[in-house]
Amino acid sequence: MDQAQSLREYMQRFNVDQQNNHSARMITITSGKGGVGKSNFTINFALGLQAVGKKVVILDLDLSTANINILMGIMPRYSLVDVLYQKKTIWNVLEQGVNGIEYISGGFEIQDLINLDQHTLLFFWSQIQELQTYADFILLDTGAGISKELVDFIVASDETIMVTTPEPTSIADSYAVIKTVHQYTNQSPKFNLVVNRAQSYREAVETSRAMKNACSNFLNLPLKTLGFLMEDAHVWKSVRSQTPFFISYPNCEASKNIKQIVYAYLPDLDKPSSISTKGIRGFFEKILTVGKSL
Ligand SMILES: Nc1ncnc2c1ncn2[C@@H]1O[C@H](COP(=O)(O)OP(=O)(O)OP(=O)(O)O)[C@@H](O)[C@H]1O
Ligand SMILES: [Mg+2]
Repeated sequence: MDQAQSLREYMQRFNVDQQNNHSARMITITSGKGGVGKSNFTINFALGLQAVGKKVVILDLDLSTANINILMGIMPRYSLVDVLYQKKTIWNVLEQGVNGIEYISGGFEIQDLINLDQHTLLFFWSQIQELQTYADFILLDTGAGISKELVDFIVASDETIMVTTPEPTSIADSYAVIKTVHQYTNQSPKFNLVVNRAQSYREAVETSRAMKNACSNFLNLPLKTLGFLMEDAHVWKSVRSQTPFFISYPNCEASKNIKQIVYAYLPDLDKPSSISTKGIRGFFEKILTVGKSL
């Protein structure tokens, strides 16, 4: 039996009806341009979801500048690489961050996963599977800009949050990522927009409108705006103190914006079309089949 067949059989054994069972929702957080606030959004959005009773795990797959851990003031001891090589289980690499938010450092290239031998792959798979029922949300913080890997992550996720600032270069780069993903697949992955560092409500609305119009006019793609975060000095203050602003400054403008985003986001999840059809299992299943015919 080849590796692909054995993996497929293994997956089938775990092939639960996800509509009736708990299944973590996989959200990729990305941007066109770097430094627009993805990692800060990810950790504070995670805290916002946790504040309303959701279990959130952050998966850091920014291989160049993994820094969510720095924003939380923790230094992970292990990463998914340790699970890949069977030195550790998924529970060993799950780090406790601020307020009990859990964090997993990625540390591997997709290519590492695809080239594994059967035994290692099945062990890794069984470990990843554990997260499916453990968390409500897996937030995947990625690097900026477009790469084949990022497109794969976006396609494999339940949805993607695109973070942009009002700068024309950020808007143009965000649009370029959405366009590339749209051209790469005919599955039309779900994108939600978050405008960060807006100087005013009006600027945020105009940014959102520009993105929405471009996606609708040129790609015939609906783009939902999840919300806005204003430019707020508490954000960089919290970066300096390595404590997310949602904790250190719960009443600052940016924290209020995060609460608004959470409240806008959760009711949307109750709609039947929003049921997780991929989750963590679907995500890795998809990733494993990308770039290699199984
Ligand atoms: N709403 C905001 N108000 C003020 N400053 C902000 C805001 N959002 C982000 N910043 C500033 O931008 C910096 C970069 O943010 P962050 O590290 O979250 O970006 P990133 O998109 O994850 O970057 P990278 O692409 O390098 O991963 C922060 O350290 C902070 O100083
Ligand atoms: Mg980042």
